[in-house]
Amino acid sequence: MREPRRCKAVITVSLVPSLLDRLAEYDVTVLSAARSDEATFQTAMAEAEGLLVSSSVAVDRQVMAWAPRLRVISTMSVGVDHIDLDSARERGILVTITPVLSDAVADLVLALMTMLARRIPDAMRAVTSGRWNDVPFGADLAGKVLLIVGYGRIGQAVAKRALAARMRVQYVDSRSDLPDIEAVGRVAELADGLREADFVSLHVDLNAATRNLMGPKEFTLMKPTAFFINTARGGVVDQSALVRALTEGEIAGAGLDVLQDEPPRLDDPLLRAPNAIIVPHIGSATTETRNAMAHCAVDNLLMGLRKQACPFAVT
Ligand code: 8YV
Repeated sequence: MREPRRCKAVITVSLVPSLLDRLAEYDVTVLSAARSDEATFQTAMAEAEGLLVSSSVAVDRQVMAWAPRLRVISTMSVGVDHIDLDSARERGILVTITPVLSDAVADLVLALMTMLARRIPDAMRAVTSGRWNDVPFGADLAGKVLLIVGYGRIGQAVAKRALAARMRVQYVDSRSDLPDIEAVGRVAELADGLREADFVSLHVDLNAATRNLMGPKEFTLMKPTAFFINTARGGVVDQSALVRALTEGEIAGAGLDVLQDEPPRLDDPLLRAPNAIIVPHIGSATTETRNAMAHCAVDNLLMGLRKQACPFAVT
């Protein structure tokens, strides 16, 4: 029987021993390399047939040029804006994602919405500053309109949670083949949805069509009592326009898990904007979800190296 051919894969994330054992079992030699150590990374890529990365590692044309044998890029993320997909397609390199984080991200969206609506940061400051009875009323989620921009797996998970909170849920998405969730309405144009929404939550990929999708005009269309949530990518928002909308009261607040620059400069004006709740890209950062993502990323890598069809391929 033909001996299985060993092959090499560069892994930039830390994997639990059981996943390293699984790779070894399938004759994959792991070349651990940090992208920051360019010389080591370039040397490792020269031999690699597979690459497993997180969304913080840019896999551009140069990285692919270092890897003449590369056949699969498995990203431990659903966003792929860190990968030059055109170069991957030109080279016939499989790119795969780990769409097992919808619940974790949707949980965070509802948390940010609730924190903004119920003014949780103000309430917490009132306790620690001796103003127990001095907390202004917040607002219900029930009965309010949520506009979901981008109705993929995460957007649909958010919709289900919002319906359970008795919100009125709408979505805008250019695609036609989307599932129909009862009581969720479709809005044809973003502008129409923004005018009516009490909450706006972004769930689109970052690409040429969506970069700065939320700009000055879009924030001006929103109600001054409305809240803006972004757990997608920072680049989908014109951040200066968001700062101005918050500072000038065009919107009532923002809950952000992603920023244009991560981490941001400490003098970034967004960090001082009124009623901005900012968390450090923790959408998928739960023990269960990151574990599931790592297993999915390794499975995808192995399917790619073994030339098996992968359900989570994007190229
Ligand atoms: C990633 C993310 O899990 O999935 C994405 O696109 O942005 C995150 O949830 C994180 O960036 C690690 O790759």
